[in-house]
Amino acid sequence: PTKAQSEAASKPISADLFGIFFEDLNYAADGGLYAELVQNRSFEYAPSDHDGWHPLTSWDYLHEGFAMGSVSVESAAPLHATNPHYVQLRIENPFQKGLGLRNHGFDGIPLTAGATYDFSLWARVKSGAAMPLLVQLQDAQGKVLAEATLSAQAAGWQQYRATLTPTATAAAGSLVVLATGKGILDLDMVSLFPQRTFRGRTNGLRADLAQAIADLKPRFMRFPGGCLAHGDGLDNLYDWKKTIGPVEQRTAQRNIWGYHQTTGLGYFEYFQFCEDIGAKPIPIVAAGVSCQNSGGSWKIGGIGQQCVPLADMAAYTQDVLDLIEYANGPATSTWGAKRAAAGHPAPFGLQYIGIGNEDKQTPEFRERFKLLYEAVRAKYPAVTVIGTVGPSPKGEDYDQGWAFASQLHVPVVDEHYYENPKWFLANQQRYDAYDRSKSKVYLGEYASWGNELYNALAEAVYMTTLERNGDVVQLASYAPLLAKEGHIQWKPDLIYFNNATVVPSVNYYVQQLFGQNQGSTYHAGVVRLPTGAPADTAAAASCVRDAQTGDVILKLINLGPQPKPFAVDLTRFKGLKTAATQTTFTGPRNAQNTFDSPRTVLPKVASYKATKRFTYTAAPFSLTVLRVRGT
Ligand code: AHR
Repeated sequence: PTKAQSEAASKPISADLFGIFFEDLNYAADGGLYAELVQNRSFEYAPSDHDGWHPLTSWDYLHEGFAMGSVSVESAAPLHATNPHYVQLRIENPFQKGLGLRNHGFDGIPLTAGATYDFSLWARVKSGAAMPLLVQLQDAQGKVLAEATLSAQAAGWQQYRATLTPTATAAAGSLVVLATGKGILDLDMVSLFPQRTFRGRTNGLRADLAQAIADLKPRFMRFPGGCLAHGDGLDNLYDWKKTIGPVEQRTAQRNIWGYHQTTGLGYFEYFQFCEDIGAKPIPIVAAGVSCQNSGGSWKIGGIGQQCVPLADMAAYTQDVLDLIEYANGPATSTWGAKRAAAGHPAPFGLQYIGIGNEDKQTPEFRERFKLLYEAVRAKYPAVTVIGTVGPSPKGEDYDQGWAFASQLHVPVVDEHYYENPKWFLANQQRYDAYDRSKSKVYLGEYASWGNELYNALAEAVYMTTLERNGDVVQLASYAPLLAKEGHIQWKPDLIYFNNATVVPSVNYYVQQLFGQNQGSTYHAGVVRLPTGAPADTAAAASCVRDAQTGDVILKLINLGPQPKPFAVDLTRFKGLKTAATQTTFTGPRNAQNTFDSPRTVLPKVASYKATKRFTYTAAPFSLTVLRVRGT
């Protein structure tokens, strides 16, 4: 091809194409990414979170031997009005062992020999001058692995801290807090964190899980949902303002997925995590309406869509504008000052905000969306608003959503689809014909129904079409991201985990290979596909170039059971080296990574010599990434 032909065959790709979608679903946050090891640390669990839950869920009352006293949950003069419950221990006779509480964590507290743990609690001594406390980490048999003593003073609510280093490892240990004197003691915010959190942040994230996410090299992170963002009623719209500031002053929220959010992982932590992993933050706020599906049997609540009254929309809109100020305002601004007080005086550089999630195109939604959209545009024209076009392109809200977005000139809309691999293969042309003058696309949630290699490869095929259309598809994220063993509410997911292990699915490695090998331009006609294969054993390929390194990146996918030849012609690229890296990801069609076999299929890296023209034979059921060095 001539230079002009080659240039005509190249297209810019969005700088933010592949990212991640985080939702607190499947115990993704508390008991998951958030490193807190104590469950129900603030005694705020309630039956409205989950049937049968109460303020002492996950706690045992310990009164061994002849110890005499009682435990109760109180709410008079709490540590903070937003954190209303606490525990009161009345110790008449501590006897030899004392009287107190044991916490079982989330499926037990995992303890590692020699690691350091930060313990803290808030206490108030109600009678007597002081109360001695014994804090222990125990294994499942009750053997003490670490212990510290503290003395709570009669000076109102005070925070006390200790560090604990277990002498042995325990997969499912517990935390014990015993009052060993006589008197009345109030306790709240009983907390235990591993000292080793991701990037050493206090109130931080579980290091191994956070690292697995960081390794995806996401260009953006969407949070906090999903359905969680708009909740299943007005009392359940995710309220970002209740998730910032000192953790003991945050307001716990009921999780639409049937459990509890401490909000310890709140908006500050989300922004900080995004910064730590080099991902642009994309908060999604409710469009002033709750989830329209919440009347369905698969969600708790059963009340259907609710709307913020129009009279309250000014205040709600202000909350959204305040969120942008919290992220981007100077440290001298009202909300920027709160960010600075949390330890981050510099702005977080928010570029996107999503308004709404899969909402039904009701007049109520449209009226509220328009108010929010126009207010954000007027005050923050540099922030890109992402609108929503319903839960599926097959749904009735999809066309109406697009028409509404076009009418308002919404810059980006959020499309979602969960389909089988066949659908992904049959829809490879989906974005080729998109009208480039309309809104750009954020493919905010997608997955093929399964965690087998074939699913992952079908997703890979589809991702090459997103690269090819990286001028109109601005952002894309697989969903959901995390799922804790024993608490899975939605499947498939990208990363499975329990307290000990992180198991990236095979789909994860496809996301990772695309995430780590993103390009800035797409080049058509570089790879000639093997011909003659039926659609479900198809082959696909993409060629992108990364402007920063000059590297040319080829992604070759073989969905069939036989090896297939891909003819590559790199002659159009000047100054390219022959040195290349070849990463292959291949295995049996139905291979999966599981807790029993977490490493069934892993990418394998080797060096490769790329000539100007060559034929690469791709293994059956494989994704190969060839990265040819530009410098
Ligand atoms: O990803 C799981 C759920 O799927 C999200 O919460 C919602 O947006 C979609 O229906």
